[in-house]
Amino acid sequence: MTYSLTEEKRRRIAEKMEQFRQRQVGDAVEHILEFNKTPTTLKSELDRFVIGQEKGKKILATAIAFHYRRLGSSLKRALGDFKGDIEAALKGTRTPKANILMVGPTGCGKTYTSETASELVGVPFVVEDLTKFSEVGYVGMNVTDILVDLLVSGGGNPYVAQMGIVYLDEMDKIAAETSTVRDVSGKGVQKGLLKLVEGVDNTLEFGKERLNLSTKHVLFIAGGAYDSLEGIVRNRLARLNVTGDWRDHLATEDLVSFGMERQLVGRFPVRVVYDRLTTQELQDILIKSADSPLLAYVQDLKAWGIELRYTEDALAEIARRAKKEGTGARGLTGILHRVLLEDMFRLPGSYTGELMMDGAYIREKLG
Ligand SMILES: Nc1ncnc2c1ncn2[C@@H]1O[C@H](COP(=O)(O)OP(=O)(O)O)[C@@H](O)[C@H]1O
Ligand SMILES: [Mg+2]
Repeated sequence: MTYSLTEEKRRRIAEKMEQFRQRQVGDAVEHILEFNKTPTTLKSELDRFVIGQEKGKKILATAIAFHYRRLGSSLKRALGDFKGDIEAALKGTRTPKANILMVGPTGCGKTYTSETASELVGVPFVVEDLTKFSEVGYVGMNVTDILVDLLVSGGGNPYVAQMGIVYLDEMDKIAAETSTVRDVSGKGVQKGLLKLVEGVDNTLEFGKERLNLSTKHVLFIAGGAYDSLEGIVRNRLARLNVTGDWRDHLATEDLVSFGMERQLVGRFPVRVVYDRLTTQELQDILIKSADSPLLAYVQDLKAWGIELRYTEDALAEIARRAKKEGTGARGLTGILHRVLLEDMFRLPGSYTGELMMDGAYIREKLG
């Protein structure tokens, strides 16, 4: 049965729905304006997910907590000036940004930490692969793509979208000298990137709606493996007769030697160096990280009445094999899957009770 509404009722419902939408939009913004996590709180929350990388997590947590506290307080001030108009406040302010550069081998947690931090802060997060961008693409169409990605990640809230985090992956691949990809110079891409990071405004049109979106308040985190960077820093330190950990001495100079544009490097003043995960850390991820792939399998199997148990020996064997693969924590998921695949196929429906995974079990499954 369909119910037909009077014009008056229709109008009132539309009005209420619009009020509801506005309130939701406002609440999401409010949440960022009131951001008050301290660096130590953010770091300890990250610790539940990200294993190891102590020094790096500390720097990252500090940079992110300060960014959102600064953004929140400057927007609150602007909202006063602009009589509560959030769109005008966003337009009328500029957040001094300390974007972050993360250096570290594949699978050590660069993207994972950034994404987890964005969830803890409660802002949208998107990953953009820099190798996909070209010199022309960057300043044109692709900037809009990034803004659209943020809008989607921000649940369609245009204000929240502009306060999100963009993770720029493969930053080292756009270095000038090493750019063997495509016929475009890494230099051109870096120039375009400079504009994006500083703040690009775009208007999105769809149907009757027009949205003004800008990357002005967006926090950028760039990540890359930067394989030869350690050698560059070490050589410089040796020339200067300086001793100590190269990670503490990474300077703009070294990134320029690597092939990065000085101006661009200057826009990423916070430097975080992540280490290759040790076998012990890989093992710890299996049982200590809240996102552990092993604990996920334990949960999955429990739903079929199967109790997956494991020995220390089994965890060590999985960690050793993952370490050998050289893909960081990424290796863990694949290995676990290969180990459990057969029993996950066979046991549900035909067996309930304990499933013991020990070293022998691992070796039997993987050879
Ligand atoms: N330090 C870590 N602690 C816990 N899990 C990790 C860690 N590093 C990586 N992982 C896991 O491995 C996956 C891949 O890591 P990712 O952050 O994407 O690597 P990358 O450093 O190449 O960006 C993550 O989704 C996460 O599940
Ligand atoms: Mg990554």
